[in-house]
Amino acid sequence: MTIANPAYSPRSCRYSTESLREAALLIRAGEPVAVPTETVYGLAADATDSHAVAAIYTAKGRPSFNPLIVHVADKAMALRLADFSPIADRLADHFWPGPLTMVLPVRADSGLSPLVMAGLPTVALRLPAHPAMRSLIRESGRPLAAPSANRSGSISPTRAEHVLASLDGKVRMILDEGPTSEGVESTIVAPEADQVRLLRPGPVTAFMLEEATGLPVIEGKGDKKIEAPGQLESHYAPSKPVRLRALRAERDEYLIGFGLMPCHINLSPEADIREAAANLFAALHIADASAASRIAVAPIPMDGIGTAINDRLSRAAA
Ligand code: TXA
Ligand code: MG
Repeated sequence: MTIANPAYSPRSCRYSTESLREAALLIRAGEPVAVPTETVYGLAADATDSHAVAAIYTAKGRPSFNPLIVHVADKAMALRLADFSPIADRLADHFWPGPLTMVLPVRADSGLSPLVMAGLPTVALRLPAHPAMRSLIRESGRPLAAPSANRSGSISPTRAEHVLASLDGKVRMILDEGPTSEGVESTIVAPEADQVRLLRPGPVTAFMLEEATGLPVIEGKGDKKIEAPGQLESHYAPSKPVRLRALRAERDEYLIGFGLMPCHINLSPEADIREAAANLFAALHIADASAASRIAVAPIPMDGIGTAINDRLSRAAA
C-alpha cells in the first residue's frame, strides 16, 4: 500500500550534541530540518542535492522561481561556491559571521543544485553567526539551502513554536534553541564594481554598509536582472488585515505598540528599536491568533533596523 501525502509529526528537540547529530543524519539523507539562525528559523536542506532542495519548496509551498539562500560554515566554503570581488571580500571580512547575505556569481564547479538558484547565474550566500546553524553545516559537511521555516508568504518564525504552527506535518525535526536574537531576516546585498545594491533591508543597515566599504549603497533592484523575488509585495502576511501607523486601537483591532502607549502588546516599551525587531514576528503571530478581527501597528521610526521593520510591516499590510 502506498500512502499519499505522508504527514510527519515534527519532533521539536532542544539543541544538543545528540539532536545535532540526528539532524545532520537527516540532512545527509536528503531531508529538510528546521534550525535557528540569529535572524529567523530556517528550513535547511543539502544545497547540493536537488531532491532535498525540492523538498524545501514543497514543504513551504514556495514558488520555484524564488531562489534560496545558501548557508556556509566558513569563508573557505563560500569561496568554493561563488566568485568574490574585492568588495565582496571586504563585506565578508567585515560582517561575517552575521546577518548579511551576498548575491554573487555562482562558480561553474560549485556543485550546488540548480534549483537553489532558480535559474539565476548568481547565488545568495550567508555565513550565519548562530552556533546551531553553523554546527549543522559542519556536522553534515554540506552547504545548506535555507529559507525561513514558514509557509510561503506567511509570517517568519522566530521561535520553534512558530515553525511547528506553520509547517506542522511538513517537517520531521525542529532544533529548538529559543527565540532568535535579531528577529528580522538578513540584509541582502549585491556588491557591484563601485556601489552596493541593497536588495532587502535587514540588521546590517545601509549606513553600516557604507561605512565598511566607503561606497554608495543603492536601494532596489535597478535595471539589472538581479532581483529578490521573495520581495513580492504581499509577504509576511498575517491572515487578518493590518493597519499601520496606528496611534490607538479601533474597535476589533489588536494593537501592537511601540514606546509607552496603551496597546495590547508592546514591541518595546522603552522604544528600543533592536528589541522591537526581535519581538516583531512573535507579536504578529500573537495578534494573528487573537480574537480581534484586525491588526493595527504603531508607527516605528526608520532609524537603524527600523528600516527593515517598516519594510516587513508594509508587506504584511499589502
Ligand atoms: O535571515 C535570513 O536570510 C533567513 C535565514 C533562514 O537565513 N533566510 C531567508 O530566506 O530569509 P528566504 O528564502 O525567506 O529569503 C531569501 C531571499 C528571497 O527574497 C530570494 O528571492 C532572495 O533571497 N534570493 C535568493 N537567491 C537570490 C539571488 N541569486 N539573487 C537575488 N535574490 C536572491
Ligand atoms: Mg521568508
